Amino acid sequence: MASVTSLSDSVRQQLASALSATRPEAAGADPLLRRSDRADFQANGILALAKKAKANPRELATEVVSHLATGEVIKDVEVSGPGFLNLTIADRAITGNLAARYADDTGRLGVPLAGNPGTTVIDYAQPNVAKEMHVGHLRSAVIGDALRGMLDFTGEKTIGRHHIGDWGTQFGMLIQYLLEHPGELAPASEVDGEQAMSNLNRVYKASRALFDSDDAFKERARKRVVALQSGDKETLELWQQFVDESKVYFYSVFEKLDMEIRDEEIVGESAYNEGMPETARLLEEMGVAVRSEGALVVFFDDIRGKDDQPVPLIVQKADGGFGYAASDLTAIRDRVLGLRATTLLYVVDVRQSLHFKMVFETARRAGWLNDDVTAHNMGYGTVLGADGKPFKTREGETVRLEDLLDEAVQRAAEVVREKARDLTEDEIRERAAQVGIGAVKYADLSTSPSRDYKFDLDQMVSLNGDTSVYLQYAYARIQSILRKAGEVRPAAHPELELHEAERALGLHLDAFGDTVFEAAAEYAPHKLTAYLYQLASLYTSFYDKCPVLKADSPAQVENRLFLCDLTARTLTKGMGLLGIRTPERL
Ligand code: ARG
Repeated sequence: MASVTSLSDSVRQQLASALSATRPEAAGADPLLRRSDRADFQANGILALAKKAKANPRELATEVVSHLATGEVIKDVEVSGPGFLNLTIADRAITGNLAARYADDTGRLGVPLAGNPGTTVIDYAQPNVAKEMHVGHLRSAVIGDALRGMLDFTGEKTIGRHHIGDWGTQFGMLIQYLLEHPGELAPASEVDGEQAMSNLNRVYKASRALFDSDDAFKERARKRVVALQSGDKETLELWQQFVDESKVYFYSVFEKLDMEIRDEEIVGESAYNEGMPETARLLEEMGVAVRSEGALVVFFDDIRGKDDQPVPLIVQKADGGFGYAASDLTAIRDRVLGLRATTLLYVVDVRQSLHFKMVFETARRAGWLNDDVTAHNMGYGTVLGADGKPFKTREGETVRLEDLLDEAVQRAAEVVREKARDLTEDEIRERAAQVGIGAVKYADLSTSPSRDYKFDLDQMVSLNGDTSVYLQYAYARIQSILRKAGEVRPAAHPELELHEAERALGLHLDAFGDTVFEAAAEYAPHKLTAYLYQLASLYTSFYDKCPVLKADSPAQVENRLFLCDLTARTLTKGMGLLGIRTPERL
């Protein structure tokens, strides 16, 4: 069997049986087990239990200890303070558990899959057609991809939805212009990302100028919107050209971001067009939406604007048109009824949180969301410049995502060049991409998503501190030790006594799976980055204190190499879930 019970789960189970042996009514009580500096683990749950049973906590704790068999896993247990239990794990159990993880050849490090996984539809990386991607699009892509990696690892089924902005009145202007200036957009198959975006920009600017200066064109553009909405064939073909050209561009940026985006998961606003009238009809029939001044709207008691006037969600405008809310409501129906989602996850700027609050509440009233299907918006904060204001170029413009990524890679190249002077330019470029993009992702992921953070490249590519480069460097150093070991292979020796630093590293390694499950359940990638950073730190102090290749005995050399290798595998796995690479050499 490949899956391994973590030491903390084993201890928790043993405590649970000791608790219920002491007090049958305590069966199922949480022993509140956590890592501690006093011992390996501390259990604080007895305090609450004693309070409930009106018992003396120290006496109750002593009684629990008498029911706890020390042996293979728990080497020692003592009552401390007002009634805590301090537990020490046997060295043999630590190495044994890690050896079982090391032996797992499924690439899961012995981490079991969730017992009854659900289906999460995750809405992330949603740029807009004919528009350049900017720094604001970074977080949705990076956080969404990381959440997906973590959820997949737990066994959850995930389906991506890139709700791109590919519909709306601006297409009337663009299409009309293209109709009157054929050939301005080269066929999508003939351009690269950069050319695609520069074509789109040129067409956008020219059509906008015409729209603003020429009333007759403006009128033709308006008519074109109607033609688009009524499904006119020629109009739709031109619209498709804009979408295709934009996708060429999107793909080039996502490739730079080292992120896989699947075509079938790009399902933009336009895909929900057909379903919108039905969404409106259902909401009106159920009485969830009401007519107000000709529009179809939904009111909420607790959502009010200026002068305490209720702010409604507009499902259909008075002129019959549908907007952003109708497309999101229709998407919910599709994701719940069609894709059979149990969870809908949105990774969208926190500034859209009111929109989602209203959309979710409407869907709940309609019964599309309920106790079995829930929705969350991981509203993320803003990327700030060094001045603490939203990140802008020196000229005060929004920063193009590509420019920002290019600069990160350039900065990383300086670090790589500094570290290894014997590399070819190609090698430098490849490593710099992994380091630079990793640094941008890691900086984004290591703050809680809801918080703003400062975009500081110097800090991001620093070799010291909580950065991806530090982790990548730890990984590469381990690879170099493993290469130096030559013929000597890593091997676990559970009979060996462990050094304090080995125990600390080992216990942390064993907690990888529990950490991923917790971080995934809470949609908190920063908990995984914090774990990985601590892993690298514990490895560093192990390496400082415990000679590896010059250890006392051949068995100890093998065992330490094994700890090194398992650390490296855990680092790559964890970073990989977050979308960050670990180069073999740095
Ligand atoms: N394209 C939108 C924007 O750039 C984000 C879409 C978010 N997803 C959604 N289902 N509304 O603002």
